[in-house]
Amino acid sequence: MKKKRRIAILTGGGDCPGINAVIRAVTKKAILQYDMEVIGIEDGYHGVIHNRCRKLEYNDVSGILTLGGTILGTSKTANPYRYAIKKGNKIEFKDMSKTAIENINRLDIECLVCIGGDGTLGIAYKLFRDGIPVMGLPKTIDNDIRGTDITFGFDSAVYIATEGIDRIHTTAQSHHRVMILEVMGHNAGWIALHSGIAGGGDIILIPEIAYDVDIIAEKVRERNRKGKRFSIVVVAEGAKPKGGDIVIQRIVKESSDPIRLGGIGFVLGEQIEKMTGIETRTVVMGHLQRGGSPTPFDRVLATRLGTKAVDMIENREFGYMVGVKGDSLAKVPLKDVAKGPRTVPLGDPLIEAARSVDTCFGD
Ligand code: F6P
Repeated sequence: MKKKRRIAILTGGGDCPGINAVIRAVTKKAILQYDMEVIGIEDGYHGVIHNRCRKLEYNDVSGILTLGGTILGTSKTANPYRYAIKKGNKIEFKDMSKTAIENINRLDIECLVCIGGDGTLGIAYKLFRDGIPVMGLPKTIDNDIRGTDITFGFDSAVYIATEGIDRIHTTAQSHHRVMILEVMGHNAGWIALHSGIAGGGDIILIPEIAYDVDIIAEKVRERNRKGKRFSIVVVAEGAKPKGGDIVIQRIVKESSDPIRLGGIGFVLGEQIEKMTGIETRTVVMGHLQRGGSPTPFDRVLATRLGTKAVDMIENREFGYMVGVKGDSLAKVPLKDVAKGPRTVPLGDPLIEAARSVDTCFGD
C-alpha cells in the first residue's frame, strides 16, 4: 500500500479565538483534497521536544470552528533553541534544537505548520534554516506580526474590548466618572486603537505615542467644562508616559520574552483622580480578550489562511507565512516575519481619523 503523505501542526504562544478554525481548515483540506495524514503536536514546541503528538482525524476537527482556545494546547515558554529547565529554584537554558529536529524528522512529515505569533514564527524560521520544511500562519490578538495587514484573533479581541468600552460607557455616564479600560496588545497599540475608535474612547493611549498626563487631565477637565461630566480612557497595556517606563505585571523567567505587561490603568487612574478631582475607576480586560468564540471575520480569515497554507505545501513552497495584503493573501518569507513585531506606524490613517473626531492621544 502506498504510504500516505504527512504534515504536522503545532500552535505556540498565547491562545486566541480562531486557532481551532485554522487547525480545522488545514486538517480538513489536507485530508480531503490531498489525501494527507495530519499529526497534531501538543503544547507547541514542548510537544516537539518531548515527542508528544497524536494523529488528527477528520472527526477530531469537525465541530471546532467556533471553539475558543486550541485543541492542541500551547506554550508561551517552550523554545527549542533556548529551552528552560528548572533546577530547584533556578532556571537554566539549554539548546534542545538537535533533539527537536531529530524528533520532527522521525515524524516523516512533508511540512511542519506552525501557528503562532512573532515568537513562534521566529522559531519556525530557525527550524527552516536548520533544514525543516515549515509553513507559518499568523495568530495573535495583538496584530503585531510583520508582513501581514491582519492576524486572526485580532478582530475577536477588538470586538470583546469594544463591548467592554460600551459597557463602561453607560456606568461612566451615570456616575459622572472617568472610566479607564486597559487592553492587551503587548508593545503594540492595535487593540487599543481599533477598540478605542470603535467604542468612542475620548482618550486613547498606545505604546507608540508617549503620553503626557497633564494633557490627559486637561482633556478630562475640558470635557467637563463642555458639560460632558464623564470620560472614557482606553489604554494599551504597553503605553508609557513621556520620559517614563512601562508597567510590568510579572516576569516569567522561563520565557524567552519574560516581561508580562499590566497595571498602567491603575497608575493612570490614581493620577487622573488626583489631578482632576473626578472619581476614576479602572477595568482591566486581560485574558477575556483571548477567550471565547471567534468573530465571523476571524472564522473566515482562519479558513482562508489555513486552506491556502495547504495549497502552498502541495506546491512545496516552504519557509513562508501566509499573510494578508489588502484583499489578497500573500506569501511572506519567514525571514521577514522574524525581523520583529509590527507596531502602529505614527502616520497610520486611523490615528489621523481619531484625532479628527476629537480623540486625544495624550500628546
Ligand atoms: O500576545 C498575546 C498577549 O495576550 C499579549 O497581548 C499580552 O501582553 C500577553 O499575551 C499576556 O501573556 P500571558 O498569557 O502570559 O499573561
